[in-house]
Amino acid sequence: MPVKYISYFPDTVQGQAILNNFVRTRRLLKYVDNDNVYERLSRGLPFYEVEKIETIGDNTQNLIIRGECISACAWLKDNNIKVDLVYIDPPFASGADYAKKVFIRQNPKVAAAIKKAEEEIEVEELRSFEEKMYGDIWNKEAYLNWMYENLLSIKSVMSDTASIFVHIDWHIGHYVKILLDEVFGESFFRNEIIWAYRRWTAKSTTFQNSHDLIYWFSKDEKYIWNQQYEPYADEGAHFTEEDENGIYRWQYLNGEKYKLYKGKGIRMKDWWDDIPYVNSMADERLDYATQKPEALLERIIKTSSNEEMIVADFFGGSGVTAKVSHDLKRSFIHVDVGVNSIQTTRDRLFAAGSSFSILDIKDGVHLFRNPVQTMDKLAKMIPGLTVNKGGLSKFWFGAINKSKEGIFPVYIPNLLDHTQKVFDIPIANHLVNQELPDLEDVKKVIVYFIDIDNRSEIEEFLKDQNNTEIEIELRDLKQVLDDVVVEDEVQYQVSENAGQYEIEITRFISDNLIQKINQYNQKGILQPLTENGNSDDENENNNGEENGVPLENGNGNSENSNAEAKTKKKKFTPIEISDDGLELIEYVSLDCTNTEGIWKSDREIKIDKLGYVIDDGKKTKKFWDAKIACTRKPLRMKIRNIAGDEMITNV
Ligand SMILES: C[S@@+](CC[C@H](N)C(=O)[O-])C[C@H]1O[C@@H](n2cnc3c(N)ncnc32)[C@H](O)[C@@H]1O
Repeated sequence: MPVKYISYFPDTVQGQAILNNFVRTRRLLKYVDNDNVYERLSRGLPFYEVEKIETIGDNTQNLIIRGECISACAWLKDNNIKVDLVYIDPPFASGADYAKKVFIRQNPKVAAAIKKAEEEIEVEELRSFEEKMYGDIWNKEAYLNWMYENLLSIKSVMSDTASIFVHIDWHIGHYVKILLDEVFGESFFRNEIIWAYRRWTAKSTTFQNSHDLIYWFSKDEKYIWNQQYEPYADEGAHFTEEDENGIYRWQYLNGEKYKLYKGKGIRMKDWWDDIPYVNSMADERLDYATQKPEALLERIIKTSSNEEMIVADFFGGSGVTAKVSHDLKRSFIHVDVGVNSIQTTRDRLFAAGSSFSILDIKDGVHLFRNPVQTMDKLAKMIPGLTVNKGGLSKFWFGAINKSKEGIFPVYIPNLLDHTQKVFDIPIANHLVNQELPDLEDVKKVIVYFIDIDNRSEIEEFLKDQNNTEIEIELRDLKQVLDDVVVEDEVQYQVSENAGQYEIEITRFISDNLIQKINQYNQKGILQPLTENGNSDDENENNNGEENGVPLENGNGNSENSNAEAKTKKKKFTPIEISDDGLELIEYVSLDCTNTEGIWKSDREIKIDKLGYVIDDGKKTKKFWDAKIACTRKPLRMKIRNIAGDEMITNV
């Protein structure tokens, strides 16, 4: 449970901004659940304990924080850290379910033996499957309530001259603009930026959606503004001559000839069509669905911050904001709830030579990689549970069927929605006064919780308010998960030669991954796939190319359907993993400094999807040979598998 609650503003109750906003929200947009939002907001931001898990270099201001936006803001607020610029690209409520592509690496033993030349390795040969990263499936009201709280929490840590850029699209952008007006005030609206890009096109009876929206608001009247320019449209054609004063052209006015010098360019407009999407050939591409281009962030960061200021991204994803902030000599705060984002960003910033700390917020949300995967796991882990049991309202995750005692409806908090994380009075109230009276022939319900807000008070409340005969059993969800997440195992040999230590990994066993691969294989074998697969109407005229140029999908939402179309074109070959399992390793790090506590990576290698080694952040053309060496005695070894699960073993 949260250690404490921190008020959104010092004077929440009297705060004009908040009260005015609420009055207006109630009048303009009355969402379902508004009252609960009000209660949660007046209670404050939930503050959890934070653990520092790794430090790289000695910069104490740059932070990568694993946790939810709201809990991260609580921590920043408690530590009096204010940010000078915020860019967020939150889930869009698009109905999409993003996935991380997991690439099986080359087995080092095989790679070393046949020493394949670079051109011989076709990316297509790489075996991959998809892992769910985070879901984007909401109803509008839940999404807007969630967004409202996120925006208020972010506002509470913005410095007086800070700006916020909210990247969104047509799905929900028009509602989010109203929320932003409410939270920041209409008079602090600065721009609606259109980012237009070319994208993978599907056959359609409407125009192709090929732009995103970025709303810019400032916290106050004074804000950082550095004019940006774009090149003159006719630059190449006319500014051709040069003298000691610069490049010029001639202009004729009333018969007089004037020398016109090239200026900085045309003042930047609010629609940007000069920044392409990060396509698969781009150097910056990291296989993170929804990854945004560095050039986009560069423009925003240059416009609204100065060197040494703190730039924050509370839905940081692949770490683009942090990376560009580092390049532009700003400090960064990257927050994300998913383990894959934290690892991708860590590796990206490490390779860029940055220095930072990684913090983990102990809020129990990311029990297994990320909330989506945790929810999936839960469905399988509770014995006898049937998910989405017919006849029950959506409040119930499912039901357990006990032949003699009938069915026991089961409530599990939706981990994608932080408002359900703490089992509190509003949820308890909903349970006893709205859900229980509707249940027929039910003796007992089971209520799982991650956090409970004052257990004895809640138990008392349930006893007093429950006017039915139904028994309510409270269960701790964390215990269920603890039992199931099985750590990977490793076997290795250490050798020492003239002060040089070498570890050779001989075997890696990951039950989690093997199970996942077996599922993938079974699904593939059962699916009737055609060899060329493009005979159906869907694929007609829709091969992801325009004028022979392969196009990337736009905002990432069509990532899955694109991938599916590609999969359909191939004959299914099951993935086979060798006995030593070395192709399941993505990253190995050695800590030669500490035997416990904060991780210090004194030596690390990452194996890219082609099997090449990235050695202490530097790309090489060497295949991995299953070894890692260092000049100091290794005390601990960390191994990350290709799906992002990490294990640490003392050497
Ligand atoms: C659209 S992606 C951001 C992509 C990013 N702009 C980039 O260029 O890589 C949204 C991110 O929000 C994260 N996320 C979802 N809910 C969150 C929450 N409540 N707090 C923090 N991060 C969250 C997801 O894990 C995902 O990485």
